[in-house]
Amino acid sequence: PKDVGIVAMEVYFPSQYVDQAELEIFDKVSTGKYTIGLGQAKMGFCSDREDINSLCLTVVQKLIEKNDLSYNDIGRLEVGTETIIDKSKSTKTVLMQLFESSGNYSVEGIDTTNACFGGTSALFNAVNWIESSSWDGRYALVVAGDIAVYATGNARCTGGAGAVAMLIGSEAPLVFDRGVRSIYMQHAYDFYKPNMDSEYPVVDGKLSVKCYLHALDKCYQAYTEKATQTGIKGKEDNLINSSDAFVFHSPYCKLVQKSFARIFLNDFLQEPSPDFSGRYAGLESLRNLKLEESYFDRDAEKALMAASNSLFTLKTKPSLLLANQVGNMYTPSVYGGLASYLLSASPSELVGHRIVLFSYGSGLASAMFSIKITKDLGPKLNKLLENLSNISKNLQNRVKVSPEEFDKTMKLREETHNRAPYTPVGSTEGLFPGTWFLTEVDSMHRRKYDRV
Ligand code: ACO
Repeated sequence: PKDVGIVAMEVYFPSQYVDQAELEIFDKVSTGKYTIGLGQAKMGFCSDREDINSLCLTVVQKLIEKNDLSYNDIGRLEVGTETIIDKSKSTKTVLMQLFESSGNYSVEGIDTTNACFGGTSALFNAVNWIESSSWDGRYALVVAGDIAVYATGNARCTGGAGAVAMLIGSEAPLVFDRGVRSIYMQHAYDFYKPNMDSEYPVVDGKLSVKCYLHALDKCYQAYTEKATQTGIKGKEDNLINSSDAFVFHSPYCKLVQKSFARIFLNDFLQEPSPDFSGRYAGLESLRNLKLEESYFDRDAEKALMAASNSLFTLKTKPSLLLANQVGNMYTPSVYGGLASYLLSASPSELVGHRIVLFSYGSGLASAMFSIKITKDLGPKLNKLLENLSNISKNLQNRVKVSPEEFDKTMKLREETHNRAPYTPVGSTEGLFPGTWFLTEVDSMHRRKYDRV
């Protein structure tokens, strides 16, 4: 199959949010810590009416409806998530309810889990399937979804929630580059969920940032080498110049800006004769900087962020809309970044662009890969972009909830997590049209849902 890639996309986030400036006051931290220090404006969250199954039901049905597809068109469906409500039954099997009336039970794939990386692993499986002898000619559907919540404390403000569905097929408008996928995986206890009774992770925040930046260095170096070998970039050129956009998994927006500075540093260290009167002005003292020793080097970070700021503004900042407005959605984060980037320019401006993506999941699993937008503005690309255009409207149509209410909701989720039988008490009134919600958990933990 030719041009395997993303044919259609759908993004879902909750219809309620808490304002980060108000949360700073509520949490009694210094003004600006969340909004400027971490770069976050709003955080989406779910009441007890939504769980991982409902998020995925919502995003899948919306994608199918908006693209006039039949459930018979799907030959593979896979969910990437770290929001586990059942240790055996996959969310994918719950989604099979949507397929029943079509009579299509022949759908490969189950769930994939490793922190924020599960969606990417599911995506790679889908691409591999289409490129393999197992492919039966139908589309693959990849769903990344999570509810990201932290215990009270300094990590809570880096939560978020949402789901992204991607229809994968051949002759796609967003084509995955072949031969450049770069992987870095290692054992680390930076963020993990050993407590089965709680939605909250155990997190070593500082270590997680170090692991993220280390994985980024490794993926960037491997990707750069493969991009040179495959001719995606010229031998003499650097990767930042030869790509139009860099989209990162975003735990919080400031880390993404630091990440862009980090790839800028990688380019700088690789450059045989850096231009100290131009792009690398003022960076002479960093010429011998060791990557391994610089994760928390504040002076170097400051200088690199200043030097790379205009390139960051051009190539990465447009991808941060959802990350800034919804927060870290975990597995969908990097794909929310992709959707945000696609929203940021007119279709004719996007044509021919190459987008490099970095996906990171604690524990740790990471990858860098890239997408080329087709050269011509055909009906498929138009449709894909048009379907994303409701994102901005939905962001504005959300309801702001006070930090007190947010805190109460978190306590309710804490107390009722995994309870059976349980009848959710959250209101369903404010949910966006077409949202699935939980109506009941019976005494055998069987969950029932309905749709707004
Ligand atoms: N005005 C402006 N900036 C401020 C202010 C203020 N009033 N107060 C603090 N800041 C800055 C700090 O200087 C710091 O910026 P810097 O790192 O650029 O210097 C930033 O705000 C954050 O402050 P810290 O004191 O470092 O924050 P803290 O240690 O309390 O928590 C952390 C931050 C570790 C990210 C925490 O939120 C966390 O653990 N989050 C979850 C883990 C995470 O997201 N890890 C990332 C990769 S793994 C993943 O995706 C889950």
